[in-house]
Amino acid sequence: MSSPKIQAIVLAAGKSSRFNTSVSKLLTSMCGRPMITFPLMALKELSIPATLVLGHQADLIKAEVARLGFDTTDWVIQEQQLGTGHALAVTRTKWTADYILVLNGDHPLITSNVLNDLVQEHITAGSAISFLTTHAANPTGYGRVIIANNRIRIVEEKECTPAEKTITLVNAGIYIISRDFLEENINKIQKSSLTGEFYLPELISAASNQGLPVCTPVAPYDTLRGVNTLEELWGVELIKRAELMSALMRKGVRFALAQSTHLDVDVEIGKDSFIGAGAILLRGTKIGAGCSIGAASVIEHSTIGDNTVIHPSTVIQDSTVGSECEVGPFARLRADAVLDNDVVVGNFVEIKNSNLGQGTRVKHLAYLGNAQVGKAVNIGAGTITCNYNGVYHNQTIIEDNASVGTNNSLVAPLRIGKGAYTAAGSTITNDVAADDLAIARARQINKTGYARVIREKYSHQKQATAKAHEEEQLTAAPLEPTINEVTV
Ligand code: UD1
Ligand code: CA
Repeated sequence: MSSPKIQAIVLAAGKSSRFNTSVSKLLTSMCGRPMITFPLMALKELSIPATLVLGHQADLIKAEVARLGFDTTDWVIQEQQLGTGHALAVTRTKWTADYILVLNGDHPLITSNVLNDLVQEHITAGSAISFLTTHAANPTGYGRVIIANNRIRIVEEKECTPAEKTITLVNAGIYIISRDFLEENINKIQKSSLTGEFYLPELISAASNQGLPVCTPVAPYDTLRGVNTLEELWGVELIKRAELMSALMRKGVRFALAQSTHLDVDVEIGKDSFIGAGAILLRGTKIGAGCSIGAASVIEHSTIGDNTVIHPSTVIQDSTVGSECEVGPFARLRADAVLDNDVVVGNFVEIKNSNLGQGTRVKHLAYLGNAQVGKAVNIGAGTITCNYNGVYHNQTIIEDNASVGTNNSLVAPLRIGKGAYTAAGSTITNDVAADDLAIARARQINKTGYARVIREKYSHQKQATAKAHEEEQLTAAPLEPTINEVTV
C-alpha cells in the first residue's frame, strides 16, 4: 500500500501545568467533548491519519480517544516532556508521508477548512515548512512571529524582550513540514538555555536561515486560540457555544437569552423550538420541532418529541419524552423514563425507569419507579411506588384507563388492572383486577361532640401545670446575688 501523502502528528503529552487541574487539559471537556478530540475531528474530516504524542496521563487520553470513536488513531509515548521539538522528534519512526502536519493538541477551535488552506498553500509554494499565524489582541503566552532582514523566526513568550512582547502577530502552533526538510533538521534543534526545552518553532528559523521558502498564512484568531489556562478554555467555549447557537438560530430555534444557555456540540433542536433562559442541554440531547424548554431546565442524553412543553426547572436525564407532552415545572425524569405522546408529568413528580402510555397524567407530587403504566391512566397527587425492598427493585404494572387515587402507596410487585380504581389514601399491597375498586385504609368513625371533651380535658391539664409551676417559684431559695449587687 502506498504511504499517504499527508499525515498528522498531534502533540498531547504536556503536563498542563498552567491549567492547574489534576486532569490533563486535553481531557477537559469543551461543549461536551474532550479538548483533544477537536483537532482529531478536523483531521478526520480531511481523511488525514493522525498519530498522537502522549505522555502525561497517556492511558486516560488513549481510552477517551478510543471511546469517542477515534480508535484508529495511532500513538507514540514521549517519556519525558522536553518540549514540542522533542515531542515531534519522538515520532520519527512514524514518518512515512511526504508532508507532516503538526498540531498542538490545545487548539479546539481549529477547523478542517483552515487546515486544508494551510496544506494547499504549503504544497503549492513548495515550502520547507509552513505554519499558521494569527493576530492576537492579547498575545500573552504565544510565540511572537519576528520578521527582520528577510528572515523569520519565533520568539517564545518567556524569551521575549519587552519590545518583542508588544508584537501581536503570533505562531498558532500548527505547522506543515516537508518530510525531507524535517528529517534533516529535527536533530539540529538546540535546547533553550533558559528553559532547557527543545522548541519546535526552531525549525522555522532553521528553514529561513537556509534560505528555504516558509509560508505563513494568517487565519482568524477565533479559529486558532490556544488553551493554556482555564480562563482561555472559558473563552473558547463561549465562542464554540455561540457558533452552535448561531447555527441553530439559522434553523429557526429561538433562545430567550442565548448567553445564558449551555449546550454541547452534539445537541439537536428542531425548528420553531424555544429555549428558555439558563437551559442546559447536554450529551446528545435531541429536541423536536415546536418545543418549549423552560428556564433553568437541564436535559441530558435525552430525546424530546415535537410540540412538547418542558416547564422551568425540570431535570431530564437518559430519558425519552414523546410529542405533545407537558413536563414540570420542577419534575425529574431519569434512568430510562419513557413517556409516550400526550403525557403530562406535573410539578414535583419523579419518574425513574418507567414507561407511561399515551394520554397518561401524573400531575402532582408523585414518584413512579420501575413502573409500566398504560394509556390514559391517572395517578393522583402524592402517590408513590414502593419499588425497592432494600435489596432489589420490583415492578408495578398499571393498565390502561386505571385511576390511582391520591396519596397511595403502591407496594410492588403489583398489578392494577384495566380501568380499576384505587381509593385515596390507600396502601395497595395486592393486585387489583380490571374494573375493581380497591380501598385499603382504616374506615372513618365520627364520635359526636368528642372534640369538645378532648379540648376541655387538655385545657384543665394546662391550667394545673401552670399553677404548680408558680408555687414552685415562690418556695424556691433566693437566687445568688449577681456581681453588680455585691458590695465590698
Ligand atoms: C506553543 C509554541 C508557541 C505557540 C503556541 C500556540 C513552542 C515551544 N511554542 O507554546 O510558539 O505560539 O504553542 O499555542 O512550541 N507538548 C508535548 N510535549 C512536550 C511539551 C508540549 O506533547 O514536551 C504538547 C502539549 O501537550 C500541547 C502542545 O504540545 O498540546 C503545545 O504545548 P504548550 O506547552 O501548550 O506550548 P505553548 O507554550 O502554548
Ligand atoms: Ca499551548
